[in-house]
Amino acid sequence: MDKRHWLDCPATLTHGNIIQRVIFTKGDPENPCREGAILRFIDSFARGYLEPGVSSTPHVNQGLQEIFFVAGGSGKLATANLEQPLAEGDAILMPPGVEHTFVNDGQVPLELLILVESTPRGFRPKQKKPLVRNYRESALGQGHWAYLVHQIFGKDDGLAQLHVVLLVRIEPLQTGDIHGHGPDMDEVWYTWKGQGIHVVSQEVCVQTPGTAVSVSASDPGHSLINHTEEPLQLFYFAHYA
Ligand SMILES: [Fe+2]
Repeated sequence: MDKRHWLDCPATLTHGNIIQRVIFTKGDPENPCREGAILRFIDSFARGYLEPGVSSTPHVNQGLQEIFFVAGGSGKLATANLEQPLAEGDAILMPPGVEHTFVNDGQVPLELLILVESTPRGFRPKQKKPLVRNYRESALGQGHWAYLVHQIFGKDDGLAQLHVVLLVRIEPLQTGDIHGHGPDMDEVWYTWKGQGIHVVSQEVCVQTPGTAVSVSASDPGHSLINHTEEPLQLFYFAHYA
């Protein structure tokens, strides 16, 4: 199990003016070359923000695609033929080859979770424009006893390395069952709102907002518990073999 709070990670710039802190990057979970270099299939996971009144510089992905989740604030996404308003809970799948710009025309920072995945040789994007969807629009599922699951994006939407991106809600005083995973995987839980207890193998950690936990393949089992009186909401992404 690897745990990092986004504020403990170094700040860098992406897309010109988005200030980001990269929480996890590709590496080796058993022997990371630097802190957070533990993902096996996904290039990086970061939390970033764009200040009010600021736009990012136009950006094009080559050989990779990005998934953004609007964790707070509002703004716009602009491409050559689209200007899309953005609100909290919106997610964007940005395929390779599409120039895009973020505009924060609001009064507060536009907060983004940013996933980067490389696209294999010969990869054909499902569509040549960004896919924008609010997690609340997708059907609600249930898993592991108490996880209320909105699928944000799946393989059918055109994910390359990722299999699924979810928003998971656990109501107050509810617990998931303990379950294990197969060998070739990345699985990360990022606390968006609320807090809970994450039991991974023999370790117990409190997941406060802004904390990401990666469950490694060698962990025999894990479960999340909402021990509080408030809902717990987590952004989740995974690659499975
Ligand atoms: Fe799991």
